Amino acid sequence: MRFPEGFVWGVSTSAYQIEGAAGLRGLSIWDTFSHTPGRIGDASTGDVACDHYHRYAEDVALMRGYGAYRFSVSWPRVLPEGYGQVSAAGLDFYDRLVDELLGCGIAPYATLYHWDLPQALEDRGGWPRRDTALRFADYALAVHERLGDRVDTWFTINEPWVAAFLGYADGTHAPGRRSAAEAFRSAHHMLLAHGLATRALRQAGAARIGIALNVSPVLTPGGLADLDAEPSPEDAEAVARIDALLNRQFLDPMLRGSYPAELTEVVAAHGGLDHVLDGDLAVIAQPLDVLGVNYYAPQVVQAQPSQPGEPAFPGSDGVLFAAVPAPATAMGWPIVPGGLTMVLRRLAAEHPALDLVVTENGAAFDDSPADHDRVAYLEAHVRAAHAAIADGVRLRGFLAWTLLDNFEWADGYRRKFGLFQVDFATQRRAERLSARWFRELIARNGPAPAGRPTLETVAARAGVSRATVSRVVNGEPSVRPAVRARVLAAVEELGYVPNQAARSLVTRRAGVVALVLAGPRQDNAALVAAVTQYVTSVLEAAGRQVALMLADTAESHRRILARVEAREVDGVILLPPERGDTLTERLAGTGVPVVVLGRPGGAAVPYVDVDNAGGAAAVARHLGERGQGPARQPWEPTPPGQAVAPGQAMPPGQAMPPGQAMPPGQVTPPGQLMPPGQVTRPGQVVSPGRGRLVVLAGPGAAARERVAGFLGAAPAGGVPPVVVEAGAGVEAGALAMARVLAGGVRPGGVFAVTDHLAIGAIRALCAAGLRVPEDVAVAGFGDGEAGRHLTPGLTTVGVAETEQALALARCLLAALEGHTVVPAVLPVRLIVRGSTVSGEWPGGR
Ligand code: FCB
Repeated sequence: MRFPEGFVWGVSTSAYQIEGAAGLRGLSIWDTFSHTPGRIGDASTGDVACDHYHRYAEDVALMRGYGAYRFSVSWPRVLPEGYGQVSAAGLDFYDRLVDELLGCGIAPYATLYHWDLPQALEDRGGWPRRDTALRFADYALAVHERLGDRVDTWFTINEPWVAAFLGYADGTHAPGRRSAAEAFRSAHHMLLAHGLATRALRQAGAARIGIALNVSPVLTPGGLADLDAEPSPEDAEAVARIDALLNRQFLDPMLRGSYPAELTEVVAAHGGLDHVLDGDLAVIAQPLDVLGVNYYAPQVVQAQPSQPGEPAFPGSDGVLFAAVPAPATAMGWPIVPGGLTMVLRRLAAEHPALDLVVTENGAAFDDSPADHDRVAYLEAHVRAAHAAIADGVRLRGFLAWTLLDNFEWADGYRRKFGLFQVDFATQRRAERLSARWFRELIARNGPAPAGRPTLETVAARAGVSRATVSRVVNGEPSVRPAVRARVLAAVEELGYVPNQAARSLVTRRAGVVALVLAGPRQDNAALVAAVTQYVTSVLEAAGRQVALMLADTAESHRRILARVEAREVDGVILLPPERGDTLTERLAGTGVPVVVLGRPGGAAVPYVDVDNAGGAAAVARHLGERGQGPARQPWEPTPPGQAVAPGQAMPPGQAMPPGQAMPPGQVTPPGQLMPPGQVTRPGQVVSPGRGRLVVLAGPGAAARERVAGFLGAAPAGGVPPVVVEAGAGVEAGALAMARVLAGGVRPGGVFAVTDHLAIGAIRALCAAGLRVPEDVAVAGFGDGEAGRHLTPGLTTVGVAETEQALALARCLLAALEGHTVVPAVLPVRLIVRGSTVSGEWPGGR
């Protein structure tokens, strides 16, 4: 496979992520942000980073043979205050870098803004302030004045979407603000900055000017599987809106001179449009010479109209970002190379005269130097780019992200994207397999012909005969250990896959993974279905077969254990039986990697679980907020004069006549207050009262954590919720709720530890003549099908079944690759639906 003559290969980096030498420049928002405790995953900063400022010559030498290098200029290195006094010493650094590059025959591509706004400008208002755009144009000119005689290709801004929305709305990037209105203002001002700088650079004689955008294909789950699939009108609306927010917010003003209608609607609702002045769009729509495309993964979305919970980003209300059933990188980003072809084709179709360059594409994987994963990722994307060129797309270059492991923003140094590994203690750079692969690809101007490495290539790499390779691969003992090690290293490095039987001999691997399902229960059918589908598709995509095993009887447990002990499988994913079973422990004892869904009671086995306590606490807060305003918090002590006397039961549905008093100061009898976490016996009702919170508890560790999380979120000192051990399933929920009512408790809100119990509770409440949610609000845990289709829809917390399934598959893959796998506790989402939203909290009336 050959790329067109003159196609440009190279890498991209950014100043804050690699330069270090923080003391030799002004402060940027990333200095402030990274030095603020809690902002960066590993508490690191870019103070030193890869020390590229001092080691640039060594780093440029690593790129010998590349056609181009896209670096970013640090604004505060050039203008420590953001404007005014230019630092000659700061510009000297880029001067030296550019000369070094040209000396090696590498074209310098300069990006003027890769997120490191001078802190001084942030202090004056940052990107939400219009003035910042004007300052940017001045800064661009200052850089051009020094480097313009040698730099031809200029990118104004890198990924304005990320800078504006993660920085100003989501707060996970610098400067860490959280305001939708400021994010939209920032985005507009970045566009304006781009337009002003482009105009100024053009006048100053810059040859080629562009911008680098993170353009993603936006698809429905159906569209991902089949591009021609017709989405529902709701899904089509979700796609159009997300596309307008992520892509067209930037593409349209620059290339068409207008904002998309979907976007202006959203912006109008988030602070208005008064920052968009007459004439701005004309400035933004400067002719572009090249559009940089940063591509990592697609966005897969679906309409979820019943979900008024917190949107993923401003304007994405009612849209669910769906999990993608594909292997993912260490960032959790699904690997979908075809998405790159889609993006390039789309841009070419809409803007046929525009030159395109892939300005970023790459992947984080673990630290290994034999990074087959990265090679496979990059090669697949290079081929995807070639497919676009074959369709006539004007793609001019491909720049991989990135040269070196570096400071990956909020993740710090934990994420490794480098073709070269960096040991941050010594600053030693080590070539990864991908670096060698990339160099060879550049030399050939395209990837090597498809086809697996053969016995010959392994023999050549190891410097031994074919027969020796064959003997090692077949596990014959007659080979000297040193030679065997050499051959195995070559096998590993080249990713040589002998036929299945020989392969399992050499690796002692079966290529098969067991998915062990305990007997299905009433409340987990959807989860089991999702796990079966997603685990299978991820593992198969990773080249493994999946053997389904049903663990529903003692005999089946024995059989499964025997097969695992005989190493018929390389690993096990287990959906364990509910309780009182030792299957998990016994499987863990076989030494084969096991990953369990749900925290196992006894065995120390990696597991994937949902944040039970955190989710339940979110429900408690939600029910609490619902009670705000004139009404009291449900867990506040019942004000004297409003409560029923202890033991006095009220018929369901009947409100307490005001003025019916109990002796001042008396709340409920002391014996009825339960310490959080303590659970009563089934059906035992603790406290008669009015507007009380009721918790329907259930069996199992997860349910106990949910109860504790819920109770823990209630401020101490109030009337504690009534906790009832309900059992499991819809019937049990109905029965328990009916008993609570019969016991005289007047519930104001119900939290059930499963969605099925909650559904049962709703049934019993309605049967007793109570209205949900006007009289009693009900929330459950777990977001299965049944709750979604209830009327009113059930408020729940949960993690999508698909997310749980993907996490299981990824954990097991990591374990199979020999990584230490730590338990994954998935963050839950509160999904507010009809069963708690309408009406006011009844308790205080
Ligand atoms: C892009 C950024 C780049 C790097 C990669 C992984 O969004 O432009 O700096 O963080 O992601």
